[in-house]
Amino acid sequence: MAKNNLYNKITSKFTFNQPKSSPNLKKNNLNSQDKKNYQNINNENFSKSTIKNSQQETQESNSSKTYIEPSLQSYKELKIIIKNRRSIRQFTPYKPPYKIIFEILETCFYAPRAGNVMNSEIIIIEETSKKVTISNLCYQQSWIAQAPYIIVITSSKDDIQKLYPDISQRFSTQNTSAVIENFLLLIHSAGFASCWVQSFQEEVLKDYLGIPPNLEIHGIFPVGFAKEIPQKPINPDINMKISYEEYGNKNKQ
Ligand SMILES: Cc1cc2nc3c(=O)[nH]c(=O)nc-3n(C[C@H](O)[C@H](O)[C@H](O)COP(=O)(O)O)c2cc1C
Repeated sequence: MAKNNLYNKITSKFTFNQPKSSPNLKKNNLNSQDKKNYQNINNENFSKSTIKNSQQETQESNSSKTYIEPSLQSYKELKIIIKNRRSIRQFTPYKPPYKIIFEILETCFYAPRAGNVMNSEIIIIEETSKKVTISNLCYQQSWIAQAPYIIVITSSKDDIQKLYPDISQRFSTQNTSAVIENFLLLIHSAGFASCWVQSFQEEVLKDYLGIPPNLEIHGIFPVGFAKEIPQKPINPDINMKISYEEYGNKNKQ
């Protein structure tokens, strides 16, 4: 497949709900065109094509012939995505199509990983009563249950431990955090919203969801469409964070 065609194939699905700036911070949900687009996507036969297409995209993008070169355009778009992603704690009743959620989950695993070990796993929860229980177990953060999906991301250090016994906890955490950042950025870039929730009664929640004792819950992620416009992020003073040649030297030669 020609480079441009592949690029279009991958990106066209996502253009329907991406305003030029602030992707998912649109006030009050979806306009009628957005709704139509989501409906169309929902109507596609998920089981028939999604997994196959995803694998095909990967093979095509791995092949030197169809490699999609990063471009100034993709750099600019990614910068906007990163800078505009915010934690959202109010959701509309509209449900993002599962097909896109699945694609996002599949894609977020393309993250760097210590020992090349994929030690993260995901549970998707849609049932209302379960969402309420989970929000209660997150110390009564009741807004969590509003979201159409709750996605639980777990990590296990078992496989990493075999390779790096002394540092497995850190590697396990770092691997899963890289997956999570991919996830949050993809969610935002598709026009959806989420928030990394880490305050919960872990042992009770693990028991409730049948999560084996050797796994850790790495985060709870309510996912839906934003119903709030969050405040602008505080600009980090990057000069305070960068040193040159040695720690603490703020003077660039
Ligand atoms: C490890 C971690 C745990 C967090 N836990 C919670 C939480 O339990 N509840 C919540 O509302 N937000 C939680 N957050 C979201 C942060 O409050 C939020 O990312 C931070 O205030 C920066 O805002 P922003 O994400 O909008 O840029 C958590 C974030 C991280 C990275």
